[in-house]
Amino acid sequence: MQEVITHLRAATSHPGGVAVLTGAGMSAESGIPTFRDALTGLWARFDPAQLASEEGYRESPQRGWDWYAERRAGVRAALPNAGHLALADFDRRHPGVLRLVTQNVDDLHQRAGVADTIRLHGDILVDRWLERCRERPACDIAAAAPGRPPHCTRCGNLVRPGVVWFGESLPGGAMEAASEAARRCRVMLVVGTSGAVWPAAGLAGQARRHGATVVIVNPHPSEIDAEAHHVLRGTAAEVLPALLGVVPGGGEKS
Ligand code: OAD
Repeated sequence: MQEVITHLRAATSHPGGVAVLTGAGMSAESGIPTFRDALTGLWARFDPAQLASEEGYRESPQRGWDWYAERRAGVRAALPNAGHLALADFDRRHPGVLRLVTQNVDDLHQRAGVADTIRLHGDILVDRWLERCRERPACDIAAAAPGRPPHCTRCGNLVRPGVVWFGESLPGGAMEAASEAARRCRVMLVVGTSGAVWPAAGLAGQARRHGATVVIVNPHPSEIDAEAHHVLRGTAAEVLPALLGVVPGGGEKS
């Protein structure tokens, strides 16, 4: 831990010096389930082919809509945990140093106060049309008729959640921005991800190849532990305040 704090201190004098990649474990202590934890993960109980693919949604739009409605309610009811707050506090004390990249579709980093987050897998609270709208002017999604899912009364298009499903491209520019953050940083913290989903999982290796110190924060082994110089076995809400809380703010000498 002490060695990591020393690296973090040095990185705070560089713009973009600290990159953080977060996954579902980041929000676990806020009560939002992860995907791949053995008993509690969503993919232990639900089939991703049905619930995280366009084919699955088309097969049963109501099943998909209802599942996401329940997850949206869980996200709205959740609060940022001590880990989210530690990152936001670090960002406030070191303007321009933090580049935060998340795979999470919740808004807990934003609600904690990090406005400038690169969101690789979209936003569960946003609605999108299932088909690209071809009408001119384009149909207004805010005017969709209520239903499970809501639909367009003009063209019949269905509403879907704004998350990235398996087989879909990431939001325009997000991976490029994340790669740039990985190449520029001096320290990359990888928090609460299994490292099973690409291209996000490749960011740790990219940072390492460009000279960064890579630190994994996870209570359990991940698929990318080999990329790390340091593995801190603990949870996001325990480790991040301990790690970031002691890095002095701008202007302070250490
Ligand atoms: P996973 O569910 O695959 O992995 C969660 C990781 O968090 C595991 O390695 C756990 O050990 C760790 N973990 C659990 N509790 C923790 C805690 N309190 N603090 C820190 N770590 C903890 O989630 P992701 O790696 O985020 O895709 O999954 C990647 C993508 O797969 C997700 O973004 C999602 C999913 O399909 C989309 O939504 C598009």
